Amino acid sequence: MRFCNQWQSHISTVWDQTLSSKMTKLASTGRGLSETSSRMWEWRGWNGLLAVLTSTPLKTCGISLGLEADLGRNLFGQHIASEVIVNAVTGFMNNDNPKKPLVLSFHGTAGTGKTLASQLIVKNIYKKGMDSRFVHFFNSVINFPHASQVETYKSQLQLWIRGNVTNCAHSMFIFDEMDKMHPGIIDSIKPFMDYQYKLDGVSYQKAIFIFLSNAGGKIITQTTLVSWKAGKKREELKLEDVETALSSSVFNYRKSDSYVVDFFIPFLPLERQHIVQCIMVEMVAMGLQSEHNKACEMADKIVIYIPDDERRISVSGCKRIASRLKNFM
Ligand SMILES: Nc1ncnc2c1ncn2[C@@H]1O[C@H](COP(=O)(O)OP(=O)(O)O)[C@@H](O)[C@H]1O
Ligand SMILES: [Mg+2]
Repeated sequence: MRFCNQWQSHISTVWDQTLSSKMTKLASTGRGLSETSSRMWEWRGWNGLLAVLTSTPLKTCGISLGLEADLGRNLFGQHIASEVIVNAVTGFMNNDNPKKPLVLSFHGTAGTGKTLASQLIVKNIYKKGMDSRFVHFFNSVINFPHASQVETYKSQLQLWIRGNVTNCAHSMFIFDEMDKMHPGIIDSIKPFMDYQYKLDGVSYQKAIFIFLSNAGGKIITQTTLVSWKAGKKREELKLEDVETALSSSVFNYRKSDSYVVDFFIPFLPLERQHIVQCIMVEMVAMGLQSEHNKACEMADKIVIYIPDDERRISVSGCKRIASRLKNFM
């Protein structure tokens, strides 16, 4: 994958015209390269910098290995999501000429790791992680709260996406609480995610869109419980098992919108063993000694599980473990 192309392909755009004129001026002072280099460094760290300096293709195997290891280490109990994410993201990043932007839609009840997974993807693509200026995070409830202002949100969001993809083809846009997003706003960003060579002179094919949503959470929980009651191990659950259930449940964004989504990714409800793992992580974060027995005791006392009799699945996943731990201590 030639990341250097990202600078060449946008030379005709207004934003990059500005950049290239800046670079031409700086080139004579020997600082032109450093502008490109610093953006590349910010984007992909050493690998990106090397790609610019040597004009050689940047191998993204590192992303695959790093992402897989990171998900394996930090995202508990999500074997389906982890596998689909690794395949989808590395497949996309290794494609020199994707036909459309990558669009992932994460589904599951609260506290199952959707936000965490999106942060791990970001961390493995951008050197500065969530602080990268190429990563844009929106929360429907916070950023688009008023139905009466949908028209304003639409035009601002379109301008924002266009401007940022013009500036960096590999921009990423994460939308949280997608199930609460006004359908009009979804409509306004749909064209960016479709198969289009260019839209108003800008190509969106290298951008990544990630939607986070609780929609479908109930059906994923039901499917997980049914499978468990049938005596299946959690790890035997496959994407296909949950996908069918997911596709029959209606996402808040309409069915007609779903064709732009490349992967619907289910996040399974967490079990007690995963809550214990989260508590141990939190103990370390709070500077405490992570003791398994103590974590088990807390997992029983501070978390509610369903069904009532068998207490198999946590209702709110690992959400608010930290604050509950503080109260418990
Ligand atoms: N599957 C998981 N593995 C590890 N930690 C998790 C998992 N799910 C949730 N957490 C932790 O719980 C908290 C809330 O998780 P978050 O990713 O925001 O959940 P969601 O976005 O699905 O509601 C975070 O601190 C996160 O690290
Ligand atoms: Mg979240």
